[in-house]
Amino acid sequence: MSLMNNLSTSMISSSSSAFLAPVSFNSRTQSVTVSLKSINIVKCVATPQEQQTAAYKTNVSRNANIAKLQAGYLFPEVARRRVAHLVKYPNAQVISLGIGDTTEPIPDVITSAMAKRSHGLSTLEGYSGYGAEQGEKALRAALASTFYGNLGIEEDDIFVSDGAKCDISRLQVVFGSNVTMAVQDPSYPAYVDSSVIMGQTGQFQKDVEKYANIEYMRCTPENGFFPDLSTVARTDIIFFCSPNNPTGAAATRDQLTRLVQFAKDNGSIIVYDSAYALYISDDKPRSIFEIPGAKEVAIETASFSKYAGFTGVRLGWTVVPKQLLFSDGFPVAKDFNRIVCTCFNGASNISQAGGLACLSPEGLEAMQEVIGFYKENTKIIVETFNSLGFKVYGGQNAPYVWVHFPGRSSWDVFSEILEKTHIVTTPGSGFGPGGEGFIRVSAFGHRENVLEACRRFKQLYN
Ligand SMILES: Cc1ncc(COP(=O)(O)O)c(C=O)c1O
Repeated sequence: MSLMNNLSTSMISSSSSAFLAPVSFNSRTQSVTVSLKSINIVKCVATPQEQQTAAYKTNVSRNANIAKLQAGYLFPEVARRRVAHLVKYPNAQVISLGIGDTTEPIPDVITSAMAKRSHGLSTLEGYSGYGAEQGEKALRAALASTFYGNLGIEEDDIFVSDGAKCDISRLQVVFGSNVTMAVQDPSYPAYVDSSVIMGQTGQFQKDVEKYANIEYMRCTPENGFFPDLSTVARTDIIFFCSPNNPTGAAATRDQLTRLVQFAKDNGSIIVYDSAYALYISDDKPRSIFEIPGAKEVAIETASFSKYAGFTGVRLGWTVVPKQLLFSDGFPVAKDFNRIVCTCFNGASNISQAGGLACLSPEGLEAMQEVIGFYKENTKIIVETFNSLGFKVYGGQNAPYVWVHFPGRSSWDVFSEILEKTHIVTTPGSGFGPGGEGFIRVSAFGHRENVLEACRRFKQLYN
C-alpha cells in the first residue's frame, strides 16, 4: 500500500488551513476526516526550494520587492510542516490549533439568506450582475448603524470588501511605495509582507530579523502589549491591530487616545485592524472611532470571518472617513474608492446577502453564540496552560492564547509540540522578532479537539 493511500485514511483535526483540502464537518462536537490525497500546499513564491529548473526562461525580471520576502508567508509554512509531519506519522491524529481558521458551521439564519439570494439569481427578477464596487447600500447602512451607530461614521464612509486581508493590500496600493510604516511587533504578517511587496522597505536584516525602513513597535508583557510611543519614530502609516493577533491583547481607551494623539502630532495615518472586535468582553473600545478625533487620522478594517465563519465565504469592510485627508487636502476615501473600482469589482452578492443576515437581530444573536463558543474554547486552553505553570497572555478578548516559553526558540517549541503531541500551533517568531519565545494557540476548533489537545499538553508539560 502506498504512503499516500495510508495517509488518505487518517483522521485529522478540523481547523485545517485554507491552503489544505476542503474539510467536511457535521456538528460542533464531531471530528473531521480529511482526505490527504487531495491536500495541496500552496508554494510560496519566495521559498528558496521552490525554484523551478525549467529550461525555458522569459526575459521578465523578477519583482525585486517580492524577492525580499523571507521564506514563505507564515501560515503556508505552518501548513507545510503539518503535512510533512503527516507524511512522517501517517496515522497520527493531528489537531490543528495553528492557522486560526474557523471550524464551526455558519448559523442557519445566515446560510438561508445566502441560499435565497443564490436561488434568486436563477430568476429574472432576482438576477443581478456587477454591483456597486463599494457594496450594497442596505449592507453599508446596516454596518454603519450596527457598528458605528453614534460615532459619526456614515454609510458612504464604508466600503464592503471580500475580507480584511484583501483591504490591507488595497490600502497599501493607495499609499504607494514612498511611505514609511510602523507595525506592532509581534503582529499579523500581512502588514509587513504587503509593505515589503509595495517596496516601502529595505532588505531583510538577518541579525535583527527585521526589514529595514519598518518601525517595529515592540509589544511585550512588560509594556502591557502597548508600545512605548515615546521611543517610536514617526512614520506615515501606523498599522495597529486590537484585539491583537497574535498576542490577544486589546488596547484600552486611554492607550488608543494616546495612539490617536501620537498620529495627530506626527501627521500619520493609523490603519486600525478590528477583525476581532466582537471578541472583546470588557469595556475596551471596539472601534478606533470611539476615540475623539480618530476620524481625522484613522482607517478601520473589519471582517465577518471570525464572527460568522466567513473565512471561506469572504466578506469584510473598511471605513475610510471623509474627514481623513492627505497632506494636499485630497480625501483618502476618494483614492481608496479609485483603487477599489480599479482592482476590485465588489464583494459577491451572495456573501453580501449573508452579511446583511448577520446584522439582523437573529443574525447578531447567532454570531454572538459562535463567538461565545470559541471564547469557551479559549478559557479551556488558558486554564490548561495556567495549570501547567506557564505565563499565558491574551484569551480574554481574543480567540488566541499567547503562551510564554522564556529563553526558547518558538520554532523549536512548535516542533517539540508537533513531534510529541501531534498538535499544530503557531510559532511566535513568525509574527515578528517580538514573538520569539512565545507560541500562539488558536481557540478555533471543535470542542472535543480542544479538550483532547489540552489533555496532550498536560501529558507533555506536567
Ligand atoms: C488581524 C487580522 N486581520 C485580518 C485577517 C484576515 O481577515 P479576512 O478573512 O477578512 O481577510 C485576519 C485573519 O486571520 C487577522 O487575524
